[in-house]
Amino acid sequence: MKNPFYYGNEVREDDFCNRKDELKELKQDVLNGLNVLVYAPRRFGKTSLLRKLQENLKKSNDTIVIYFDMFSVSNIDEFIQKYFNILAKNLETTTDKIINLFKNVLQFKPNITMTISSNNEINYGLSLSKKEQLNSLEDVLNLPYIYAKKLNKRVIVIFDEFQEIEQLNIEKKLRSIMQTHSRKVSYLFSGSKKSILTQMFYNKNRAFYKSVKHLKINEINLSDWEQFIEKKFAQTQKTIDKELIKLCFDITIGYPYYMQQLMYFIWENTKQKSTKEIVKNSIKLMLEREDDIYAIVWTNLTPNQKTALKYIVNHNGENLYANDNLNESNFSASTIKSTIEALIKKNIIDKRDSSYYLIDPFMKYWLEQMSAVSSSNN
Ligand SMILES: Nc1ncnc2c1ncn2[C@@H]1O[C@H](COP(=O)(O)OP(=O)(O)OP(=O)(O)O)[C@@H](O)[C@H]1O
Ligand SMILES: [Mg+2]
Repeated sequence: MKNPFYYGNEVREDDFCNRKDELKELKQDVLNGLNVLVYAPRRFGKTSLLRKLQENLKKSNDTIVIYFDMFSVSNIDEFIQKYFNILAKNLETTTDKIINLFKNVLQFKPNITMTISSNNEINYGLSLSKKEQLNSLEDVLNLPYIYAKKLNKRVIVIFDEFQEIEQLNIEKKLRSIMQTHSRKVSYLFSGSKKSILTQMFYNKNRAFYKSVKHLKINEINLSDWEQFIEKKFAQTQKTIDKELIKLCFDITIGYPYYMQQLMYFIWENTKQKSTKEIVKNSIKLMLEREDDIYAIVWTNLTPNQKTALKYIVNHNGENLYANDNLNESNFSASTIKSTIEALIKKNIIDKRDSSYYLIDPFMKYWLEQMSAVSSSNN
């Protein structure tokens, strides 16, 4: 029987748990013409949510949704090519129409190339000289608006992994063009590097300063997980008690990727009814699987950052500047301050109200286990 849990890439349909409020709010915002920033850490379910929104909006006849993943874009030329390709495929229906319309719509007359991928998908490209590049960037960026007017439809453009734009040096251009697109085109930006996105959208000197509504997506809560997990167990003639789900939730804090991974292992090891023993073994297995990744992150920290991370975990992220705590740790207030800032910049910790926490909850668990092992060895 196939394991009903999945972790890795985006999830759809039955694999997608809740997020009803976020979807409703996002949908409302983009339909109202707002530009929105969706920030969440890695593997939190951003892409799944955005794709779900796309599916949802597709049903309406007067809306076109374009999803563009910027993860693999590393220079302007690639941006133009890939963005053009996605727009071409979403805005027009047949190859002839694509060629004709783009020749009419674009100010310059590009050679449009077509290649067929191994899965028989047609990909469109533009052959551009260096000189044409700048003009074509502007024209391609304007396509969503041109089509919105031409077809009298609302166009929604989703830029996933938007932080990658930073290295292309086209922020100003992008912003100034988007500004002219009125409410006919909405832009939805998503990304996981908080330090970069914060700079981009909240630094006064940056082009995108305060140009978006920020929508925060949260962990999925316990009762939604219970429903989701119990249903999947029941559908496969197995059971798991709420108490065990809670145990998993306490470690993962409802972080989607880890909840799914843990449940994947638990289901795999359960014949009929899950037990505490199975849960414990599955957590151990997950620690082993994730160990390499955490070890790399750990190795790349300075000695001060390592000590500070343990200090944060030991104090649950609270009262880090209290004299008693500092004395005990041998940190001075200024060192802990700059070290915390460096850890925030590295996207390892973040601040909520007055306390600091590890963005990756399972890394916190890994660190606790590692500290426990090393202190029991001493
Ligand atoms: N709504 C959801 N319900 C259940 N599981 C989810 C949900 N969203 C995400 N997941 C879990 O998290 C994993 C990662 O999801 P997704 O790729 O959408 O996240 P992401 O934030 O885009 O990740 P990345 O930062 O790597 O791009 C999925 O494979 C799945 O296991
Ligand atoms: Mg993603």
